[in-house]
Amino acid sequence: MANKQWFWQPKHTGEAAISEENVPVHIAIIMDGNGRWAKKRALPRIAGHNEGMKTVRKITRSANRIGVKVLTLYAFSTENWKRPKLEVDFLMKLPEEFLSTFLPELIEENVRVEMIGDIEQLPAHTKKAVQNAIEKTAGNTGLVLNFALNYGSRSEIVHAVQSIMKDVEAGKLADQDVTDETISSYLMTGHLPEPDLLIRTSGEHRLSNFMLWQLAYTEFFFTDVLWPDFSEEHLFEAVKAFQKRSRRFGGLSQ
Ligand code: FPP
Repeated sequence: MANKQWFWQPKHTGEAAISEENVPVHIAIIMDGNGRWAKKRALPRIAGHNEGMKTVRKITRSANRIGVKVLTLYAFSTENWKRPKLEVDFLMKLPEEFLSTFLPELIEENVRVEMIGDIEQLPAHTKKAVQNAIEKTAGNTGLVLNFALNYGSRSEIVHAVQSIMKDVEAGKLADQDVTDETISSYLMTGHLPEPDLLIRTSGEHRLSNFMLWQLAYTEFFFTDVLWPDFSEEHLFEAVKAFQKRSRRFGGLSQ
């Protein structure tokens, strides 16, 4: 399988059952359930986020190993600012904590870090850590680890529409040339393939303003497992479920 050379652990049983033919190119994950994980253990919510960060590392490595090309992780939504300040401050420290520990490993594993969302509104320390990781990994050609941070899909679409209108007014784009490909290309994910598989953990079944345009033909996989408990085996289970689906993109199966 692609990227296998960066890993040394024995294969999991679940991994062995994945077909190399049809690995999702882009997996997007709504990482949910950190708070409930902590509550079950009578721990503060931030302990759940901290554990969730460890899961990010595990799942990044596994996705890379099985040959996934893009992994988009919903780490902080534009709505998450409504949470208590202590929790927001903690969540804003996680990218730098994660990257200060794991950036060398990501570089070694040829992972390229990217981000979607409004970087300007992030605290300076968070922005600096993310920008540094993006720069240090810009030349890497393996898995794209795309953090959705301060991300909201409706706001992304509004900005895309505004940019298209400006370009039409400036004569750079004819209004009849505004197609769905044009809109896709003006989104923050314009350079990436659309997700093939969306996973949401913790038993919730909604999109929460995540990649609304990009998920039009994506296969959804919902699991009751809380994000801190989400293991490599769970990822492989989701990929295997995806491989059994018949994707028709609005047409008929062949
Ligand atoms: C939702 O669970 C989770 C979040 C809002 C934060 C997700 C962040 C991480 C998993 C860590 C990110 C790591 C890096 C490296 C950026 P919730 O708090 O809403 O859980 P609940 O629904 O059980 O309360």
